[in-house]
Formats: sequence, C-alpha cells, structure tokens
Amino acid sequence: MLPTIAWENESVIMVDQRKLPWKEEYLSCRTVEQVAQAIEKMVIRGAPAIGLAAAYGLALGVRNLKTEKNLDRVFASFYQRLWRTRPTARNLFWALERMKKIYEENKNLGLNRLKNILLEEAKAIEEEDLKTNKEIGENGQELVPAEATILTHCNAGALATAGYGTALGVIRAAWARGKKIKVLADETRPFLQGARLTCWELTRDGIPTTLIADSMAGWLMRRGEVSLVIVGADRIALNGDTANKIGTYSLAVLAKENNIPFYVAAPLSTFDFNLKSGENIPIEERHPDEVRKVGGHLITLPEIPVKNPAFDVTPARLITAIITEKGIIRPPYGKNILRLRK
Ligand code: MRU
Repeated sequence: MLPTIAWENESVIMVDQRKLPWKEEYLSCRTVEQVAQAIEKMVIRGAPAIGLAAAYGLALGVRNLKTEKNLDRVFASFYQRLWRTRPTARNLFWALERMKKIYEENKNLGLNRLKNILLEEAKAIEEEDLKTNKEIGENGQELVPAEATILTHCNAGALATAGYGTALGVIRAAWARGKKIKVLADETRPFLQGARLTCWELTRDGIPTTLIADSMAGWLMRRGEVSLVIVGADRIALNGDTANKIGTYSLAVLAKENNIPFYVAAPLSTFDFNLKSGENIPIEERHPDEVRKVGGHLITLPEIPVKNPAFDVTPARLITAIITEKGIIRPPYGKNILRLRK
C-alpha cells in the first residue's frame, strides 16, 4: 500500500507529492500551520487526502495544547486556518465539520480525553476512506469490460486518498479480477499529477499504463483507442454537476462526441448536499508560475499574463454514471443522489 499520510510519533507524516516520482521524501508536520501549508503547497493533494490531512491537523493542534484556557477560541483558529487552505474539494470541509462535531460533543470531558477522542476520529476517517475506496472499486469494476483501455485524468489514486483510490480504485479492482486493462494517463497540465503520480502508482502495481499529453485524448477517442473514461471528483452538486481537475470538462465533451462512457468515481463525502448545481462551486485559481514553468523552467515570457483555474465543472448531462461506495448512480441524478444520502 502506498504511504500517503500517517500519524506517527505525535506528528502527521506525508509523502511529499511534489517530489514524486523522482524522490520518495517524507514531510513531518508538528503544527497546524505546517499541515495547512502542506495542503496549500500540494505536498498532499486529492480531495479525500486533503480532508484526512485537515482532520489529523486539527487533532495535532489540540494534542499540542498544554492548557484548556480559551479552548473554543484556539480550536476555532485551527479550524479556520485549515478551512482556508483550498476552496474546491468538498472533502476538506466535510472532514473539518465532522471533527468539529466530535469536538463540541466531547470538549467538556477534559483536555486529555478530548485529545485522544479527536485523534481516534481522524484515524476513523482514514480507515473509513480506505474501506470506501475498496467498495467504490468493487462497484465500479462491473462497468469495465473484460478487455478495455481506460483513460483517466489527474490522480484519483492511493496518493489522493487514504489508499487504493477512487478512479484508480476501480481500475485496481478490475485488474484484480483479471480483466485485460490498459490505462491511458493524461499528463494533466499544469501540475502534471497524471504524468508524475498516476503513472508512478499504476506502474508500481504492474498495471500497463501509457502517458499521453492532454491534447491527444480527443484524437485517440476518435481512432477508437479509448473504451471508457474514469475520473475522480472534488465536489459533486445535487444535480450531478461535478468539479474535478481542470481538463475534465473537455474530456467529457470529447467522450460524448465519440459515444464513449464517461464515469466519475467518488465517495459520498465529496457530495455537496447544499449545492443545487455546479454553478456555485468555488474554483481555485492557483499561482501563474505553475503554468509559466515546467519542472521549474520557464517555458514562456516571465511576465506573460496567465490564467490558472485548478478545476472545472462538468455538467451532469455529460456524465454516464457516478460510482460511489453505496452503488452506481445514474440519471436522473437529482433524485438518485438524494436517495443515496447517508
Ligand atoms: O489539485 P489536486 O491535485 O488536489 O486535484 C485532484 C483532483 O482533481 C482529483 O481528481 C480529485 O481530488 C479526486 S481524488 C480521489
């Protein structure tokens, strides 16, 4: 199993995903601020992994406290710091809200008990996420034919979760069943999660993986070289509109044009039950240098204006089905998503 994040010796340990696949380096966070910065700077990324990091971050913050003085105020400052790290992935807010509820229910039991209870909750989120991904994998593999070439975008794998992955979980489960699978990994400019992380993860598992530049997907679909597309999600609205890594929308349009199934794999913790449609999903705008540079090298004029939205929203009508731990959701999404709500 890949080591995405772990609690060890009163610290949150993360593999530094900015350095993969060249270096397997671990970062040890000892404070809430360090965890928050690790999320912002993409040491750890991927919706469920961000949520998990924030949960451990809150637990860490409380464990560092020596006194109960101003406990509510101090807890709120940790909570708000982590809340501000990245705006799009629902899982971040889902995990923080879950930890806050546990805090409110147990804050009067004394600091020592509270410390343990919060840590146990973060560990439970980790265990549940792994279990959830295996269920998503099992549910989703039914959609994969006995022989298939699967196109995926970004990294919705073990590195983006507590382990196993969502979109890559489906691929892993199909592979484990002996299906003859080949994966096409979109490089995923500008941050290259596909080239750096998905290729690394799948190759470690022996799953045949070929890297393509993002711009090649449409042509390969048209030539009949793609059987289906599976991607993860950062936030899914009640009507099925799905925010995911920038470039996902283009893939969905291309898949529709070429009559190729387009699947989203995500846990229920990615659903935003307060949002009617994808219109109001906040889209993170990241630093322009991520676009101006590749591997630290400028590829353009240093001062050229840049747009860098990190996510886009795919309209529900382009999505064939959404694979969750509770089953596969098909249109009409509005009704069917509400039915699966925990
Ligand atoms: O900017 P990132 O790398 O955090 O974006 C990640 C994605 O868009 C993933 O596809 C999504 O979070 C699902 S991860 C299971």
